[in-house]
Amino acid sequence: MPVKVDAQRLLRRLDELGQIGDTGDGGVCRLALTDEDKLGRDLLVTWMHDLGLRVDVDAVGNMCGTWPAGATEAPVLCGSHLDTVRTGGRYDGNLGVLAGLEAIETVISSGAELARPLAVASFTGEEGARFAPDMLGSLVYVGGMPVEQALSTVDRDGVSVGEELARIGYAGPMPCPARPPHAYVELHIEQGPVLEAEGAAIGVVTGVQGISWTELAITGQANHAGTTPMHLRHDAGYAAAAIAVAVRELCPRVGTVGRLDLHPDLVNVVAARAVMTVDLRDTDEAALTAAEKALGERWAEIGLAEGCMITARRLARFEPVGFDEAMVDLVEGVAHEHGHTTMRLPSGAGHDAQMLARVCPTGMVFVPSAGGISHNPAEHTSPEDIANGANVLLDLLVRLAQ
Ligand code: GLV
Ligand code: MN
Ligand code: MN
Repeated sequence: MPVKVDAQRLLRRLDELGQIGDTGDGGVCRLALTDEDKLGRDLLVTWMHDLGLRVDVDAVGNMCGTWPAGATEAPVLCGSHLDTVRTGGRYDGNLGVLAGLEAIETVISSGAELARPLAVASFTGEEGARFAPDMLGSLVYVGGMPVEQALSTVDRDGVSVGEELARIGYAGPMPCPARPPHAYVELHIEQGPVLEAEGAAIGVVTGVQGISWTELAITGQANHAGTTPMHLRHDAGYAAAAIAVAVRELCPRVGTVGRLDLHPDLVNVVAARAVMTVDLRDTDEAALTAAEKALGERWAEIGLAEGCMITARRLARFEPVGFDEAMVDLVEGVAHEHGHTTMRLPSGAGHDAQMLARVCPTGMVFVPSAGGISHNPAEHTSPEDIANGANVLLDLLVRLAQ
C-alpha cells in the first residue's frame, strides 16, 4: 500500500489513552472491567464512532469496530486488548488496538476500495491479572469457553465478570462464539529483549508458547515465632518458599511465582496459610506437561514434610500454538518489502492471537521493546518502531482484504 499511517495521530491517541489509569510513573493501571477500563473503552468507542465504524459489543464485553459500517461478510480483523496489569505500561495491547484503528482510518481516507471489510477488536481481560484465565474475552469469542462460565468467573474479592460488565455498561448483545473472521493479524510489542539484541526492526511471530497457571493454597498452623521449635512447626511460609525454589529448579523454559500472600502476615507468627501462583511456559507441550508433573510431585513432598495441606486450583492452561505458515510468510514478506530487518521468533507472552488461531488464519507482528522491559511502567517502544509496525499492519490488512 503506497499510503502510510499518520504516526503522530497514533502516538497522540496512545498518549491520550495512557492518561486513563496513569500511575504517575509512566505506567498504567487499567485492570479488566474496572472504572479505568470503562473510561478506556468509552474513549475507543468515541474514536470508532468518529470514524463511522459500526461498533459491536458482545456478551463478554469484546468490542469490535467494523468498516464499512453496513458490512456483513467476514472481515479481516486486527486488534488486541486495552486492559493492563496493575503495574503495566502504555503499549502492551493498547498499541495493537490503536494501530488497527489508525490503519482503518488510513484506508478510509485513502479512498481505497477493498473486497472485504476491515475490523478492529479490543478483547476483554487479556491479561488475566484480575480474572483468570488470561485471554478470557478472545477465548470465549472463539468458542473455547461457554459465556456463562466466563461471566461467573470471580476476582480475588469475589466480584464476577458478569457483575462488572453490567456495572460498567459493556455487557453487549452480540452472541459468543462470534462468526470467525476471514483472518486475524495482531501488532504487539515484543515484551522481551530479543529483537533489540538482534537489531531486528520487525519480529515475525511463529507462534505462542504454552501457558500453565496454578494457584496453590497451603494450610499450616499459626504459632508463636519465639517458642515453637523448628521441627514442630507447620509453616505455610516455609512450604511456599520451598515451592518457589522448586519452580526455579524444575521449570520448563520459564517459571514464575508472581504472587505470594501470607496469613496472618505478622512478624512474630508462623504463617498459617499461604496462597501463591505458579506460571510455567514452554513452546514444547511435552516439556510443559513433564514440568507440571515434576512440580506437582515436589510440592506434595514439601507439604508432607512440613505437615501442611496443599490444594491446587488450575487458573489457565493453553497448549503451544503455531501460526498458519502462509500468514508467517506474508508477515515476513511485507516487512521485507518495507525494507525492515526481520527475525522469526515465538512469543513468550500470551496473546489474543493465540485464541484466534483456533478459528482463522492468524499472524502477529512484533516491534522491539526498549531494554526488553514490559509489565512495568518503564515499558517503551520508540516512535519509529511504532510507525514501522503500524505500516506493516496496514499493508497486511489491505492485502488480506483485497
Ligand atoms: C499476558 O500478558 C501474559 O502473557 O501473561
Ligand atoms: Mn498484551
Ligand atoms: Mn500483558
